[in-house]
Amino acid sequence: MGVLVTGGAGYIGSVAVERLLAAGERVVVLDNLSTGYRDAVAPGATFVEGDILDGALLREVLTGQSIETVMHFAALSIVGESCSNPRKYLDNNVVGALNVLGAMLEAGVSRFILSSTAAVYGDPDSVPITEDMPARPKNPYGLSKRMIEQALAWYDRAYGLRSVSLRYFNAAGATEEHGEAHNPETHLIPNLLVAALSAQDQVRVFGNDYPTPDGTCIRDYIHVTDLADAHLLAMAHLRAGGATETINLGNSVGHSVLEVIASAQRITGKEVPTVVAERRPGDAVRLIASSDKARQLLGWEPKKGDIDAIVRDAWQWRTAHPNGY
Ligand code: UFG
Repeated sequence: MGVLVTGGAGYIGSVAVERLLAAGERVVVLDNLSTGYRDAVAPGATFVEGDILDGALLREVLTGQSIETVMHFAALSIVGESCSNPRKYLDNNVVGALNVLGAMLEAGVSRFILSSTAAVYGDPDSVPITEDMPARPKNPYGLSKRMIEQALAWYDRAYGLRSVSLRYFNAAGATEEHGEAHNPETHLIPNLLVAALSAQDQVRVFGNDYPTPDGTCIRDYIHVTDLADAHLLAMAHLRAGGATETINLGNSVGHSVLEVIASAQRITGKEVPTVVAERRPGDAVRLIASSDKARQLLGWEPKKGDIDAIVRDAWQWRTAHPNGY
């Protein structure tokens, strides 16, 4: 039996594949390479180039490769872009995920792990955020993931398809082989590291008039290997007959944009040029996870919680791969 990883050529998916293979799992990656890279797929995985909107291909892979669990990473994930192009996000993320689920029902595959997001919460009433707080997404990206979470509750009740929706806070860091390389890059940490390498780019600080101590947005940065490991634990939970769940993945520590800039300067030893710019549409002010549920239910214990450790791993990968993949 195998594990299908959609989006396994992307940033978080490629690290999950690395960890699955290390755990002795048989892995099939399905990716259309729209934002992922063929070279990001570990050699031990079977690679199928294709789209999650292709139902016939999905059914063929699920049945032909004897898949027992699907980890669904394939999605678009840029908050700002989702605000200017909601259709693109709802088509890819909602229709795409429903297509994967439909093919699973037809192929009789009943375990699913969703890459969900802290963006489902919008601006929470308080932090740390627990899973039972209201989901009020303030951008179409968060909405797209929330819609699938809601569908999953019904797919369990009606069809017995069990799932774990993992609400990632801000994925960051890298392994030796796999790191973050989006094109264009919008994320804070890779932008800072690219600027540190090139010494030309100025990094924009999107707003310094937020209601936070230094005026910049606060996020809970979580190492990509800690995220990936939670997927293996979620799969074990489902294999053991565990129920459908929604679980936060964060370190429960918030860092402002200015604090992350300071960390990047410490780790790279370079002055990173920055400039204050307008607020970015769709940005939440402060997102910090309660990770109690992940710890209690999955036995998850993040190993690389320190922001400098996260930035250091990202920096190591970036200096070894200055042009990405
Ligand atoms: N930021 C800057 N300058 C940049 C890039 C980002 O100031 O060049 C700021 C953003 O405004 C935000 C913070 O840095 O306040 C983090 O921004 P990222 O783009 O790195 O990450 P986001 O918080 O926007 O989004 C990420 C994922 C989403 C996920 C979200 C959950 O990309 O998929 O975390 O917290 F939903």
